[in-house]
Amino acid sequence: MSLKNSDFISLMDFSSEELEDILALAEDIKSGKKNISDRLVGKYLGLLFSVASTRTRISFQVGVNQMGGHAEHLNANDLQLVNHESLSDTAAVMGRYLDGLIIRMYDMTQYGKGREALRLIAEHAGVPVINALDDKDHPCQVMGDILTMKEKLGDDYKKKRLVFTWGYSWRQKSPGVPHSMLIASSLLGMNVVFAYPKGFDLDEEYVAFAKNAVQKSGGTLEFSNDLQEASEGADVIYVKSWKAQYLSGEEDTRIRQQVRNDWCVSGRHFEVANPGALFMNCLPIIRGEQATADVIDGEHSVLYDEAENRLHIQKAIMAAVL
Ligand code: CP
Repeated sequence: MSLKNSDFISLMDFSSEELEDILALAEDIKSGKKNISDRLVGKYLGLLFSVASTRTRISFQVGVNQMGGHAEHLNANDLQLVNHESLSDTAAVMGRYLDGLIIRMYDMTQYGKGREALRLIAEHAGVPVINALDDKDHPCQVMGDILTMKEKLGDDYKKKRLVFTWGYSWRQKSPGVPHSMLIASSLLGMNVVFAYPKGFDLDEEYVAFAKNAVQKSGGTLEFSNDLQEASEGADVIYVKSWKAQYLSGEEDTRIRQQVRNDWCVSGRHFEVANPGALFMNCLPIIRGEQATADVIDGEHSVLYDEAENRLHIQKAIMAAVL
């Protein structure tokens, strides 16, 4: 499989066929049908992170190792970036040593600057760059989540009703997951409703892309400000908190406190969902914030399967771009 882009930064850069190919490869890797254990022999990858991570960092380190390569964690705060060496010089030098970069670098107070940095590094490094979450997208997470839906719901997962909802969190988080889900679901022709409190609208560029893509793919795309109503007939309830990008940080904090009780996924949402509906979240999650503990630890939850699938999908992504 080869992709038209050698960087994996936004799912907007790919076609539905390419996303389908990555999912199929991940299934084959996971089942053992495809052996890629020597795919990265002799390759040295850098994991450049300036933001905390458990799943992404560990799953990439393990995945590179399982493919015969070497992954080195590079803490951005230990580099000469802290002494004002330019990002372009840093990237150009890294490109002379490394065969690829996996990057998580953004600042929640400066929407879009993380993406600019990622594109600039890709331009100057001259080696493939994989987005490990920035302030706009989390493509690896969402591809792993779709792999999980496909596994749990079967090949007609696209016809099922996915409710992707905002949930309360004390922390203002990147909208990377909902943005990437908007793009992937619309390209693949899934049936999705995005639910969020008034004021927490997603980036207009992503919404416009998805509205256009869904016309071609045959999926459906709805928006709702009522989680209880949206949950009726759901096959998946996926909760994720994000910062309201069109509100100031102070306004976001004030509103999220006001609405927190209405935006915590609980048993009452699964009472109106379809039997066997899945509960999904990318983790980390705090019990009692985005969802109640009984939902997080209950029969609907597939959270640890989602986390495991990060490993399989990222191996497929690395096999495709490296
Ligand atoms: N879901 C996710 O990206 O987890 P980490 O922040 O722990 O990497």
